[in-house]
Formats: sequence, C-alpha cells, structure tokens
Amino acid sequence: MNIAANPMVEASQTIYLKDYQKPSFLVDAVELDIQVYADYTQVGATLKMQRQTAGDLVLLGRDLELKSIILNGTELSESDYQLDSEQLRIANAPDQVTLETIVIIHPESNTQLEGLYQASSDLFVTQNEPEGFRKITFYPDRPDVLSVFTTRVEADKKYPVLLANGNLLETGEAGEGRHYAIWQDPTKKPSYLFACVIGDLAVMKDHYVTSEGRNVALEIYAEEKDIPKCKIAMQALKHSMRWDEEHYGLPYDLDNYMIVATSAFNMGAMENKGLNIFNTSCVLADEEYTTDAAIMRVQSVIAHEYFHNWTGNRITCRDWFQLCLKEGLTVFRDQSFSEDLQSAAVQRIDDVAVLKAHQFPEDSGPLSHPPRPDHFVEINNFYTATVYEKGAEINRMMSTLLGKEKFRKGSDEYFRRHDGQAVTVEDWVNALSAGSGVDLSNFLTWYNQPGTPKLEVQGEYDAAAQVYRLNLKQSLKSNAKYPNLKALPIPVALALFNAETGEQYILQSEALVENSVKDGVYLFDQAQASIEFSGITAHPVVSLLRNFSAPVNLEFNYSNDELAFLMQHETNGFNQWQATQTLLERILLEEHAADTYLQAMKNTVPALIEKDPLLASRIFDVPSEGYLGSRIDQNYQPEKIQQQRNALLDTLARELGAFCKETYLSLDPDMQQDFSQAMGVRALKNIMLALMARQGDAKAFELAQQQYHTTRNMSERLGVLRVLVWNDAPQAKAALEDFYTRFKDEALALDQWFMVQASHPKATAETIQALTAHPDYDLGTPNRIRSVSGGLNSNPVNTWSFGVQHFIDLAKYLDEKNPIVGSRLLQVLSRWYTLAEPQRNQVQAALLNLQSVVKSKNVVETLNSMLEV
Ligand code: BES
Ligand code: ZN
Repeated sequence: MNIAANPMVEASQTIYLKDYQKPSFLVDAVELDIQVYADYTQVGATLKMQRQTAGDLVLLGRDLELKSIILNGTELSESDYQLDSEQLRIANAPDQVTLETIVIIHPESNTQLEGLYQASSDLFVTQNEPEGFRKITFYPDRPDVLSVFTTRVEADKKYPVLLANGNLLETGEAGEGRHYAIWQDPTKKPSYLFACVIGDLAVMKDHYVTSEGRNVALEIYAEEKDIPKCKIAMQALKHSMRWDEEHYGLPYDLDNYMIVATSAFNMGAMENKGLNIFNTSCVLADEEYTTDAAIMRVQSVIAHEYFHNWTGNRITCRDWFQLCLKEGLTVFRDQSFSEDLQSAAVQRIDDVAVLKAHQFPEDSGPLSHPPRPDHFVEINNFYTATVYEKGAEINRMMSTLLGKEKFRKGSDEYFRRHDGQAVTVEDWVNALSAGSGVDLSNFLTWYNQPGTPKLEVQGEYDAAAQVYRLNLKQSLKSNAKYPNLKALPIPVALALFNAETGEQYILQSEALVENSVKDGVYLFDQAQASIEFSGITAHPVVSLLRNFSAPVNLEFNYSNDELAFLMQHETNGFNQWQATQTLLERILLEEHAADTYLQAMKNTVPALIEKDPLLASRIFDVPSEGYLGSRIDQNYQPEKIQQQRNALLDTLARELGAFCKETYLSLDPDMQQDFSQAMGVRALKNIMLALMARQGDAKAFELAQQQYHTTRNMSERLGVLRVLVWNDAPQAKAALEDFYTRFKDEALALDQWFMVQASHPKATAETIQALTAHPDYDLGTPNRIRSVSGGLNSNPVNTWSFGVQHFIDLAKYLDEKNPIVGSRLLQVLSRWYTLAEPQRNQVQAALLNLQSVVKSKNVVETLNSMLEV
C-alpha cells in the first residue's frame, strides 16, 4: 500500500509561464464513484484517456491512499509506476488508456477546506479551484484538460441531499441505510470546476426561462432556518441571467443551476459548473441580519459566479498564469452589473476605493506582480487584488476606448472563436481586436508589467489664442525584476469647465478618441505627449481620469480652490468624489489647511443630500488610516496619521455643528423611493450620528440607543452600535449584550458583533485576547477569524503594535491547519518595511522568527517575498 502523503514542501519549486507544455494525455470521459463514510471516503475513478503528445502519463495526487490501479484491464504493481507526494507517473503508456483507480481520502479531518471536506456535522462539500481536485483522486489536474464527468455519490441517508454537476440521471438504494445519486455534466470541463455536495440541507426553488426558451430549475440550498434569507440571492441570480443575455448575448446552457451555502469556506464563492458553492456570507441576505453593504456584495457575488459560466467555464484558462483572463473579465462584468443595480457613480466609487486601498499598496510593495504573473510557487497566493481588480481595470480601459458597440462586437468574436477551449490572455485581446476592428495589442503590456504608473499632467491656458494645452508624462518606478518597462496605453477621460460660469466646455480636439462614451477620451500611449483644446473662452478647470478611466496615480498641480470647484461643479459623480479625496489627502498627508474643504462641504452637501443621498454619503468619506498609511513609503508612523485624521474629523464635526442633528432628525429611510436611496439615507444618518458623538453631544448616545431599539434593519442597528461602542458610551455594554442575545444563533450577525469590538479604536491586546477566548470564537471558520483580525486591522495603530503578534500567531497556527487563509492573513503585514524605527526592526524580527518555523508552500512563499525588500 502506498501513501502519497505529506503536503509540506520538500524544496520550494517555482513554476514558470515560459515552461508551459501541453499535457501528454487528454481525458475524454471520467467516471467517479464517491462513497462517503463517517471516518473515510472511498473514491473510484475511471479515466478514458488519449495520448496527445509524447511523454509519460502524469496524474497528480496529494494526500491520497492508493488502494488499486488498473490500466487497460491489468492491475499494476508498484514497479509499474512512480509515486511521490505530488504525482503518479507511468512511463511508456499506450496511446489509448483506460485507467481505474481506487483511493481513500479523509474529508472528515480536512481542515484546509480544499478538495472534499466536511464543512459541518451535516455537510460535505468540495473546493477544487485551483488545485483541489488532486486531493480527491489521481488526475491530470490542470485547466487545459477538459472532460465529460459522470459522478456517482453514495452516503448514509442522514444526508438526503446528494449533488454533483450537470443532470441527475438516477437515484437509488445502496443498502445499510445508504443511498446514491448519479449525475452527468454534458459540458466538457476542467477538474477545478468539479463539485459535489453531500448533506442535510433545505432548498429554495424557482425557475428561469432563457432567451432561447430553456426552462432552468434554480435551487439554493442552505440550512432550513436560512431559507427565507435566500430571496435576494435568488432575485439576483435571475437578474444576472437576464443581464448576461441582454449585455453579452449569453444565455444559460443547462437545465438546472444550483447554489449551496456553507459557513466553512475559505473564499467568497466558487463557480463550479451548474453547482456553485458559496460562503454563507455571500448568499444569505435579509435586512434584519445583513447590512446594506453586505446585501450589495451578495448580489455582486451571485452575478460574478453566474457570469463565470461563460467567462471561465465555457471558455477557461490554459494554465493558472492566465487566471486574470477569467477573473479580471468576470470582475469587470460583475462591476458593470452592479452599476446597473444602484447609482453607477457610487458603485464606481466603491470599486475604486477597493482598488486604491488594496491593489495600489500591493503593487507598490514586495508582493507586487503583473496581472499575469510569469512565475509562482503556490498559485493560491495569486488570487490577488492585482489579478482581480487591476485585471478588471484593464478590461474596463479597453471597453472605455471601444465604446459599448465595438466592445460587444469584440466579445462576440471571443465567444465565437473560443467556446469550449482553454485559452490565454492573448487569445482574448486578439479576439477583442478582431471583432471590434481596433488593434488593442498594446494593452498586453498592462497584463505583463507590475506597478502603478504615475501620470503627471500640467495645464497651460493661452487666453489670447483661447487654447488650453495639457502636457502629459507617464513613468513607472524601476523594478529590478522587470528592467525594461514600456509605456502603457492610458485612456484619459477628461472634461473642461469654465471656471467663471461652472459650465462644461464642449471639447474640440483632434486628439480625442471617437467612441460612444460621451466624455472626451484621449489615449495617451507614449512616455510624453501634449494635446490642445481650442475655443476655450475663459480660464478652464480640467477634470482628469473621469470615472477613473485608468488605474494610475495622477499628479496634477491643482489649487485647493480648483478642487473645491470640482466638488461643486463636476457632473461626473465619481470625479466629484475624487476631488474631495484629493483635497483630503493633501490635508492629511501634506498638512494643508482644512478650510477650503470645510467650506466646499458646506456648499455642496445640503443640495446633494436632496438630490442623491447615496452619493452624498460617499462625499463624507475620509480616506482610512490604512489607505493613508499605504501612501507613505518610509518612516511611516501610524499614530501620526491617526492624530491628523482624528483632528480633521473633529473639525468637520464642529464646523457642521447643528446641521448634523437637523439632518439626522429629518431623514427617514422608510420614506425613500428605492433601495438605493434608502441605503443612502441610512448611511447618512449613521454618519451624522457619529459626527454628533464627536462633538461630545450626549444626545447622540440617546438617539443611538433609541435607533438601536426601534429598528429592524441591520445597517441601522449596527451603525449605532458602532457609535456607542467606539465612543465608550454608557449605553454600550447593554447594547452589546442585547446584540449578542438577539443574534447568538446567527453566525453572520455574530461575526459583526466580534468585528465591532475588534475594531474599537482603543482596542488592546486584552480586547483581542478576550474575543479569541470567547466560546463562539472558532479557528475552524475563516469568517470568524476574519471578523476579529479584519476588525483589528481597521486600526493600523493597533495592527502595528500588539496586532503584529496576533497575525504572526495566526499564520503559525494556520500554516498547518489552513495555509490558504494563513498566507492571506499574513499579507496584512506586507508593508512592515515602511514603518519608522524601532517598529520596523521589531516587526522584521518577528517575521524572521516566523520564517524559521513555517512549512506550507503558501506561507513560505508569501513570507519570503515579504522579507525580500
Ligand atoms: N473562482 C473564484 C473562487 C476562488 C478563489 C477559487 C480563490 C480558488 C481560489 C471565484 O469566482 C471568485 O472570484 N470569488 C471571489 C468573489 C468575487 C465576487 C470576486 C471570492 O471568493 O472572493
Ligand atoms: Zn471569480
């Protein structure tokens, strides 16, 4: 008997994009027989394979106990193959192979939540992307091997639900209180999209008729008590199906679509063909238990995983270096969907805020990599903000440049050419170019280079000639690993406003790209360029990168008054917001006076609240301490940033004075026209109350307590709970106790209870210690871990003091138990080298110490990169 065990790394092995080779064998069909028992699971696999190129037959497998192996009818003995902890290799295999294997695996003790694992006493699920399938059976577990899967699942009848991808062919008795189900997925797919589910779950059912007239059964599986919380997800699913038909001409292709919710999940959700598996946090949504932000997230994740059916599943990735092909495109698609759900400007604001808070820092630090990396040790470490968010931005830039119609022609061409294939980023850009008739090949540079470009722009106004000139320059920080950085194609969407009248000029310039976007767009693709606008009758104020048309750091020498002008006159909601953020960054990082900002807020806010409460709520955004810290490359002192930011908030609160209370009292979310506006009003009320509390207004606590007890809405309840807890109000303790009693059986709401306390600005090591010692804290549930560590990390002063040990200890523990999550959490410390001494040294010592004890590829690779600065 052979045991292919020991998941730990022997020698860290780097994989390179340039070494890609086609698999020697393809799999035409695979039959799986999965028999789940209490203390083991037996997996039988029959693979029908055909040789494609010369070479050994290689099957990948990890932690598998091999019971038997039969090749074309003959049982193999140990001398017929080579087996190590990663693969099973057969030399001189014939061209046609039928391979039958039986292995034993242990889902009941799988804490890594990868492969087949027991998620709770009532549930077994799979997570196979990117390389989990090799923990279920021996297989060429790589995305360019596509096959038809037939799956038999057998288990005790205490698990009534037996699911796998595709159509249900048969169910029956298996003796001894057991039963089985056989499923077949007619569409060829890579192994990472395989899923099965064994459990005791309730289901919400609905159906959807596609544009082609196919009647699709829709099912969402969750715990019985959570079924009423599946309504929003079900609506979002139907909405997504319609949206993809209307915007991309893509109808659904199977007769059923199933979603299964589990609380034991490393990520948000997974797009397994016809059988998505979701973290409960990304399915369950109900005003009473879920904040508005979380409800929006549920809808976008449902859309995201649904959209993968075409961008990811029908057309998949050739290898994992191409990950951003499916993720970048699908994120761009889900962002576009969400822009149609709520205010497009606010959706864009929220997406750019995430980009700037996560991707920009990642790209300026030791974990920087191109959206399409050229090497990795552990692919799980590359599901990053750069692959996802910057990947989405590249697609958005191409779409901005082409306009709706041409972009659609391009995407049509992609689906026409590549349906059923495993392809590369080049295939996507080529199809988009061919279909649209516009050569986009220089956008490949964006996929292949790391770093956020700096875009420096200067404006010159010639009053006599009535000409306005812009001089542009782009640059990238030099990078030892990528010595030959090229200029990037940067679409610059812009507008000019008449500084005297506030009116927008109609742009006249030959430099502008012609397309269906109504803004002027200039494609800046050289290291330097100048463009001119004629007919500019009075001094203009320029608004650049409208809607954030490119993921770059813009430097333009605005006066504070010009930024205040844009806060009031810019008609692009995103750039209106951006002007406030730019002004605030100057105040907080460059010690400008706050008066221009305060006056502009007073001028802008009252009318905006009437017009668009959701956008108004975002205009109150003040860059977080974490974001501000990420703009500092050396001598970073978190306390200093905290002081500056608190001082600004105090001034804002004082200046707005009675306005906060009046606004709080006059706003009523129940009187709003739609969800988007109600959401805005709830956000505004919470902001007003927080500002009142800053003014030391005791009435704020009374109002908070009142709102806490009268509302049934989670955004309203949590918003005021934060005000009470973070300000140490006398009412805080009772409110926390009430919240706990009310929601102790609602895991996601309880996560919020942990989070509110962990994110207290004055949390201490003892606060965190008490939370992690609480009986409801659970290191086996990533959501619960993140509620505490994420809360803690919302205050960098805390993260960089006692928080360091918290993250180090977590990484140490998870290195063995759940390295995927361990590696991600450790990344919180990746900007350690920017700290001022003595903190810098202390954190470095702690990381070096950690380096000597961790073993998983995931944590080792992340830590090595982090220390390589
Ligand atoms: N394919 C991913 C799920 C995944 C992530 C598998 C990491 C393996 C490793 C899925 O489509 C996804 O991207 N999920 C996101 C949410 C999405 C809305 C961006 C996630 O899980 O965070
Ligand atoms: Zn995805």
